[in-house]
Amino acid sequence: MTDKKATLNIGDEHYEFDIREGSIGPDVIDIAPLYKNTDRFTFDPGFTSTASCESAITYIDGDAGVLLHRGYPIEQLAEKGDFLETCYLLLYGDLPTAPQKEDFVNRVTYHTMLHDQMTKLFTGFRRDAHPMAVMVGVVGALSAFYHDSTDITDENQRMIASLRMIAKMPTIAAMAYKYSVGQPFVYPRNDLDYASNFLHMCFAVPAEEYKVDPVLARAMDRIFILHADHEQNASTSTVRLAGSSGANPFACVAAGIACLWGPAHGGANEAALTMLHEIGTPDRIPEFVARAKDKSDPFRLMGFGHRVYKNYDPRAKIMQQTTHEVLGVLGIKDDPILDVAMELEKIALEDPYFIERGLYPNIDFYSGITLKALGFPTEMFTVLFSLARTVGWIAQWKEMIEDPRQKIGRPRQLYTGPEKRDYVGMSDR
Ligand code: SDX
Repeated sequence: MTDKKATLNIGDEHYEFDIREGSIGPDVIDIAPLYKNTDRFTFDPGFTSTASCESAITYIDGDAGVLLHRGYPIEQLAEKGDFLETCYLLLYGDLPTAPQKEDFVNRVTYHTMLHDQMTKLFTGFRRDAHPMAVMVGVVGALSAFYHDSTDITDENQRMIASLRMIAKMPTIAAMAYKYSVGQPFVYPRNDLDYASNFLHMCFAVPAEEYKVDPVLARAMDRIFILHADHEQNASTSTVRLAGSSGANPFACVAAGIACLWGPAHGGANEAALTMLHEIGTPDRIPEFVARAKDKSDPFRLMGFGHRVYKNYDPRAKIMQQTTHEVLGVLGIKDDPILDVAMELEKIALEDPYFIERGLYPNIDFYSGITLKALGFPTEMFTVLFSLARTVGWIAQWKEMIEDPRQKIGRPRQLYTGPEKRDYVGMSDR
């Protein structure tokens, strides 16, 4: 707390509000008493200037293009760490010691299998159902099978539910993919690391041995790290709001998956690759850039722009490096879509429209090219995003539940509808 105050003058009314400082980043004005003291609300529909909570998990400096998880830069975690270590960091607040890491990996590994009855849920979907629809349904159903870890007041049950979701999301995601391509489900293997196990469940077939390429597994693991958490983005805010009512964590994560699906959010990776294919060749880029700038055209450059980053998304830089690494390992010399992406990025970054608005490539701009090269169909891209973001949703949900000041989230509104009026009978309408 600081003794700094904010004053609000409305006509001859004068009000004071506390200013609170974080460890880094902007101060906040504590307006909780605003309505009680002034009989007025604030108005900020997109939460562009509103902090919804206090958090110690992730910090973004959008102007500097900085992303920290518990203080560690994303570049260092992506280069030197691995995804389960990042999960531990997000959940517990510090990097694990060797024994802590081994214990955590073992606990996750032994929760990777799904209750076998759940395999029947998949058969209720059409084979051509979007895999995100399957994810929302199956993850939401977890609470029906793991009811013994839904008491959110019990710390032990909260941790078991957290481990179960981190462990089972790759299994469910792989099953959603297998179901969509008509291949049999592949069970998890405890002898494989997290990313290798996921690739094995996706691409192995019973008819032959499938060896996971360690370089591709490392790239997959790094992609999971890049997507793990990102402050109070739309899907994380959805999970927090759902959790604030006391809903069980499985239901909250299912709500997060539903929100992430939107093309303005996690669905942008699928939309970005679709856009790059629609552009097709570098000579058509100016036509699409003109459309993106045309206010009468709803088209936007997918994978560009961000509510917080007004500089390069640091994750996009690492993703671009990973793209080149994966294409190199796979011997894909000249990917025409990558050529379009790099030329589009170059043109956009030199265009005043994008420069003035701080529009840079975000994590979704290159991820699709990499995931496609790894063998995933476009519809699976947001599923992979939800797989990785589950730990972020869970860590933020846990932080909220453990905050003694936590209350149910219930925003107010500016009402612009009709004033009170009497019912009109049908014959008088
Ligand atoms: C993710 O929040 C997170 O942290 C999300 C995420 C995470 O890890 O959780 O980082 C993941 O969702 C990344 C973002 C993926 N979405 C896209 O790539 C879709 C395309 N981007 C846009 O839809 C947009 O940039 C948003 C939604 C990402 C951000 O929108 P804002 O903050 O509401 O910005 P805005 O719409 O107010 O735009 C400001 C200006 C506008 O022009 P003016 O009215 O000022 O003239 O920039 C323009 C917009 O028209 N603009 C774009 C643009 N994005 C913004 N113009 C063309 N193409 C774009 N992509």
